[in-house]
Amino acid sequence: MPTRYDIVGGRPLQGTLRVSGAKNAALKMIVAALIADGVTTLHNVPRITDVEITLKLCEELGARYRWRDETTVEIDARNINNAVIPLRYSGSTRTPILFVSPLLHRLGKAELTTIGGCSIGPRPINYHIAGLRQLGVQVEEASRTAYRFQADRLHGNIITLEYPSVGATENLLMAAVGARGRTVIRNAAIEPEILNLAGMLQAMGAVVYQDVNRTWIVEGTRRFRAVEYEVMDDRIEAASFAACAVATGGEVLVKGAIQRDMVTFLDWLRKVGGEFDIYPDGIRFYRQDRLRPVNLETDVHPGFMTDWQPPFVVLLTQAEGISVVHETVYESRFGYVEALVSMGAHIQLTNDCLGSRECRFTNKNYLHSALISGPTPLRGGTLHIPDLRAGFAYVMAALIASGESRIYGTEFVQRGYANLIGKLREIGADISETPVETAESP
Ligand code: EPZ
Repeated sequence: MPTRYDIVGGRPLQGTLRVSGAKNAALKMIVAALIADGVTTLHNVPRITDVEITLKLCEELGARYRWRDETTVEIDARNINNAVIPLRYSGSTRTPILFVSPLLHRLGKAELTTIGGCSIGPRPINYHIAGLRQLGVQVEEASRTAYRFQADRLHGNIITLEYPSVGATENLLMAAVGARGRTVIRNAAIEPEILNLAGMLQAMGAVVYQDVNRTWIVEGTRRFRAVEYEVMDDRIEAASFAACAVATGGEVLVKGAIQRDMVTFLDWLRKVGGEFDIYPDGIRFYRQDRLRPVNLETDVHPGFMTDWQPPFVVLLTQAEGISVVHETVYESRFGYVEALVSMGAHIQLTNDCLGSRECRFTNKNYLHSALISGPTPLRGGTLHIPDLRAGFAYVMAALIASGESRIYGTEFVQRGYANLIGKLREIGADISETPVETAESP
């Protein structure tokens, strides 16, 4: 049954919370477990719907799973027997394309129907397909969204990605570990979540390591063992709560926030006027000063991560002056802005590239830069969440705003934030969740 969040804003957030394991690492590590003919145990796995969907997908392919406790899941992949990735699960997340590599290693084939885009961009899989073909996979495009993959044994190759795609890098790493010979992936993604996955693949028996200049090197093997492994803490969740603490003028200790995984975020937070104290098990966030405007550009790691962008834009609505944000990773990741403007924010969008970074959207008709002038008082409103990170941005705006807000579409937030209500209440937020008749949530 759908629910809505009711939030009364306007109070500084105070206290301590602990983030969960990283969605964007856990999903890939669950998929990687299918490479080994055994029972894998993953620790620190977040209880979110995207994880449930990915585990259900494993089950459809012949695996079995069981939660040993709140955050430990065992995945028994001894009986992988189905190469068709069912659409009903691949309708809501992008993870299905990643199952192709384990299925090729286990069954020599895979079938996939993809879903196309989401509210933040068209999200094609052309880099995945091109890379798999270079590793000797026959790829038949049965239709615009359906693919058949076949390969008796993959072979190593030198692949240069057109763009450092996270998903394509992870897929090709999982493909290359079982290929004959050596694979070099250049212009690849190097996000901390990928290092977490690569660490698990190495523990499973693969030879996989980073070289200079965004390059991964993999020497294929056929012997994989099932392992017990730990998912890293969620640096996107940590940054989301940090922005919340500073924007509400509060002070929050975020346990599980790790400096090395969010160095760039911490620098930009300090530039805006936020401050932080680093501890071995977390970071305390608070406001040092008046909030100052900045000119920010998102980019691939180690740049400012695109998933940090929506909460950070809400923070910038409270800065004294005009900030500029140039989104270079997704074509349309400002769809949520209109609702913030309805709450009182002053944000203008433009197709121009307002920044100096190279951008794939130059001279293209995408509203991918924002001008934010502040500070503007926000007033509570009724909001409908379009996607996961926009969802957190709405919750944050409602926590800053005066009065009450009603937020619909909470299922988007539950895809990536475990126990959000509980954590926000731990730091003093006035938030509740109410079941709503489908009729009420347009
Ligand atoms: C991962 O998505 C994350 N999702 C995203 O987080 C994150 O925003 C993104 O990486 C970038 O950091 C998960 O890990 C589950 P990409 P992914 O391939 O792998 C284009 C969140 O909120 N592209 O790096 O899908 C693509 O359209 C989510 O947790 C192609 O053109 O991202 C996009 O513009 C949102 N062709 C850009 O590259 C391809 O074949 C980056 O995509 C692949 C990607």
